[in-house]
Order: sequence, then structure tokens, then C-alpha cells
Amino acid sequence: MNAQMSGLTNDMFRLLQDIIHEMMGILYDESKTYLLENRILRRISDTGIESFDEYLEIIQNLDAYPQEKEAFIDLVTTHETSFFRNAPQLDVFVNGMLPQIFGEAERTGRDEVKIWSAGCSTGEEPYNIAMMMEMNSIVPENLKVRVIGTDVSMLSISNAKNGLFDSYSLRNTPGEYLHRFFSKVDEKKFIIANSVINSVEFRQLNLVDAEAMGEMRDMDIIVCRNVLIYFDSDVRDKVAKFLHRSLRDGGLLFIGHSESFSDLPEMFTLETRKGIPVYRKKSV
Ligand SMILES: C[S@@+](CC[C@H](N)C(=O)[O-])C[C@H]1O[C@@H](n2cnc3c(N)ncnc32)[C@H](O)[C@@H]1O
Repeated sequence: MNAQMSGLTNDMFRLLQDIIHEMMGILYDESKTYLLENRILRRISDTGIESFDEYLEIIQNLDAYPQEKEAFIDLVTTHETSFFRNAPQLDVFVNGMLPQIFGEAERTGRDEVKIWSAGCSTGEEPYNIAMMMEMNSIVPENLKVRVIGTDVSMLSISNAKNGLFDSYSLRNTPGEYLHRFFSKVDEKKFIIANSVINSVEFRQLNLVDAEAMGEMRDMDIIVCRNVLIYFDSDVRDKVAKFLHRSLRDGGLLFIGHSESFSDLPEMFTLETRKGIPVYRKKSV
């Protein structure tokens, strides 16, 4: 490491903090200085960039460096996820709430239901939902179910589309799912079945982008787990309003078990199922 690489100065950290917050709403507080520094050092060493200063110049002009922009977004986001993450919540979601939503759709003459995994990382969450629906044969014959997975990280979305997963990501997956939906590619990788790959639509979407969020409409269910925790309270409230707007009346929101936002009781009615909170959209 050369002298210029000896560390992020406070000014550099604050500059990065502002850029990340402005772009993605993510809050890097001072306790995360080393995390950010290490992530950037890895990128600098991968690219052959000479110094933090040179890297920061690029970062301040990201529209001129589209490839570096995607790498930067990926670098500062945390993609921790796995299949069957919070399995009791998924069970309530698929076996408790979905049949109800499907029944309502049929009764009201709708032929399409939309489920959105917002902040889906490398795809485990929406694939998990699609697999569970298939395994439990819960989709009525004449109903089209669209499962949509979005994330701000284009690299995560590309990985999701490939459908390749390592055994760590599958560590909580029950045997009958492994057997039915995954094939071993090599010692480390498994590929998910085509039926599952083809049942999820993936795209890049930034949850703080008001215009793009305005296009997400009439969702029956939004799953946004372990994403709001990265935002400060203002951004969390703003994103919550966007998600509320994206749901159809009476639509459901699933968030992470430790997550909340300030207008939650005004915007949603809490329905607890098997101890799992389910939030139903109120018209406000
Ligand atoms: C920890 S992962 C959660 C993945 C999955 N929902 C789960 O619970 O397993 C958080 C994801 O949120 C995404 N994310 C962070 N900020 C975002 C934003 N502004 N817009 C969209 N996605 C964002 C990250 O890229 C990351 O993939």
C-alpha cells in the first residue's frame, strides 16, 4: 500500500457519505468508516486505480463512468441474503396470505396478481416465493402471478438472472426443495430450475428514485425485508410512502422483523398471523 492509500481522511469519508446518501439513501455513519475504506481499497486494487484521490475524482463524476457507477453501487450495498431467510415469515406469506389474495382476486374478477420483492439482492427471496408457490400448488389455474424482483445493484440483478447459488446461500433450504429445484453445477455451485427462473422478472430499481417508484403500481404484495435498515429515518419514511402508493388498496407489506417507519400505524393495519406481523394498506 502506498502513502496515499494509508486511509480515508475525514473529508473523504464525508464526501463519500454524501454521495452514497444522495444516490441510494443509504446512511454510512462514522462507525462504518473502516467498512467503507476496506470495500473501496478492494475496488482500487481490482482496477489498478492509483489512490483514494483518483478514485474519488471518478466517484464525483460517475455519469461519465457507467461501469464504475455500477461497481460503486454494488460496493456500497450489503447483499447478505439466503433462501428460507426467516422461514416462519415466508410460510405465513405463502401458505397464509397468498391463498387469501388469490381468492380475493378470483372473486373480484382479476386475472393477475403482482408480488414484488423490493431490494431482492441476488434473487433468493423472489425465487423462494416462486418455489414455494410451485411446491404447494397454490396458484389457481386461471390466475397469472407475476413475481418481480428489483434491486439498486445491477450486478446483483445480473447474478439473480443467472440463477446460480453457492451452498452457503442454500444452507437453510429443506431437502425436498434442494432435490426438486436445484442441480449441482460443480463443487461450489447449484443452479435453480428453469421453471423458477422463468417465473421471476428481475430489474434494477432504486427505491429512492421517485419517478421509477411511481411506475410500480397495483402491487398485491410487497416484500421489503432487511432493506429499510440501511436508510436514515427520513429516507425510510419516504420509501415507506412510495411502497404504500405502489400497493393496491388492501394490499400487504412484509418488512424485516426489526424494521419500522414512523407512519406505519397511519398507513397500515397490523394483522398478526402465527406471531408474524402482516401490514395491510389503509387508504389514506
Ligand atoms: C441485505 S439485502 C436484503 C435482501 C433480501 N431482501 C433479504 O432479506 O434477504 C439488502 C438489499 O437492499 C438493496 N438496496 C439498498 N439500497 C437500495 C435502494 N436505494 N434501492 C433498492 N435497493 C437497495 C441492496 O443492494 C441489497 O441487495
